[in-house]
Amino acid sequence: MAIKDKEKWNKKYKNTPELLDDRPQSYKLADVIKHTKGLDALDVACGSGRNSIFLANNDFKVTAIDISEVALDTLNKKNNPNVKTKLVDLDTHSFDENKYDLIIMTNFLDRNIIPKLTKALKKDGVLFIETYMFHEENEKPPSNPDFLLKEGELKTFFDKKEVEILEYDEFFNESFELYKMRKQSIVIRKK
Ligand SMILES: C[S@@+](CC[C@H](N)C(=O)[O-])C[C@H]1O[C@@H](n2cnc3c(N)ncnc32)[C@H](O)[C@@H]1O
Repeated sequence: MAIKDKEKWNKKYKNTPELLDDRPQSYKLADVIKHTKGLDALDVACGSGRNSIFLANNDFKVTAIDISEVALDTLNKKNNPNVKTKLVDLDTHSFDENKYDLIIMTNFLDRNIIPKLTKALKKDGVLFIETYMFHEENEKPPSNPDFLLKEGELKTFFDKKEVEILEYDEFFNESFELYKMRKQSIVIRKK
């Protein structure tokens, strides 16, 4: 499964190099970082690192993880001293617990790792997830319907005894993306 992911993404980045071009960070990230209390950050499925670079430029020490060497090579070439990359298969990766002040996962969905991401946060750490959801106006059918969230779904992964939900939103994606798609985002703080 993950070898397939690696081949799929390396091929996708080689065939569509525009996907590796510099792009703006998630528009929500500037507000997300206002909630954080420390600078240790993890960017999960970072791609070529648009969000990692934004965090690094805001003084975070970022660990950026992804399964694609092609994406990580592009990020490494940016030589940002605040970004450390790691080739990781999220299907099998074990996350250290109580380690990060901020974890982000954007434009990628693996429902199984969401509880592990909460555990990987320090107390008061913040988790931000933003990715695509089902919507009748979506312009691109998913390669796999499991990759799309259902309405309200991100809120269902968290136990309110363990986390506080700081923000939740459903919205249409940024205009620089190739297809109009509905997205969902959540920001939580670990108690
Ligand atoms: C659409 S890109 C998102 C990149 C970045 N987060 C952003 O918002 O620009 C999805 C990324 O997930 C990575 N990915 C897919 N399956 C993975 C796996 N099993 N383990 C680690 N990364 C994976 C791909 O290599 C790809 O870079």
